[in-house]
Amino acid sequence: MLDLTSLNEKISLCTACKLGEDRTNAVPGEGPKDPDVMFIGEAPGFYEDREGKPFVGQSGKFLNELIKEAGLTREKVFISNIVKCRPPNNRDPLPDEIDTCEELWLSQQIKALQPKIIVTLGRHSLSRFLPNETISRVHGQPRLKGDLLIFPMYHPAAALHQPKLRGTLISDMQKLPNLIKKENKIENQEVPAQPETDEPNPKQLRML
Ligand code: URA
Repeated sequence: MLDLTSLNEKISLCTACKLGEDRTNAVPGEGPKDPDVMFIGEAPGFYEDREGKPFVGQSGKFLNELIKEAGLTREKVFISNIVKCRPPNNRDPLPDEIDTCEELWLSQQIKALQPKIIVTLGRHSLSRFLPNETISRVHGQPRLKGDLLIFPMYHPAAALHQPKLRGTLISDMQKLPNLIKKENKIENQEVPAQPETDEPNPKQLRML
């Protein structure tokens, strides 16, 4: 398994799909090596492409506010996207670009980071993890996908176009601290390698 530093280096040089031809900088993502929370947006935009960093434009400003609402700071969370290079003219990433980038990089990042919670930002990100759900139905509600805990949210940019979503994003984000607490509790309760009883692992009893 690749570590985060090697992954970042490789992502910066990636030319596995057409998006690699037009970008200024790939945007691997940023944050600590052992975050509780990983945010996954859609794709870098103009400013992200220029700086090589995720969410540094307008929607990034709102994401920073939302992160504060959860009592966190940007330095404590990992922020990335489902594709690491800016699609020309900010078009939606194409399914084959998403598949390639996910297979090569996103899945490796998740393995390396082992976040307790993955916050999907927007419908593209949601659909990679929960393809049968719609964002209007599941936003703000944690869902287990295999051993990943997914917390779907609207994309912060959606609130820039539809101001009434601002409050929804804020109230969804305010649920995150309790969820983190709950996950830490479950992790601390985890049964040791040689269980003394036949009780199921608390993770299997997780009630969402
Ligand atoms: N929108 C995204 O989905 N990701 C970014 O990094 C910036 C804007």
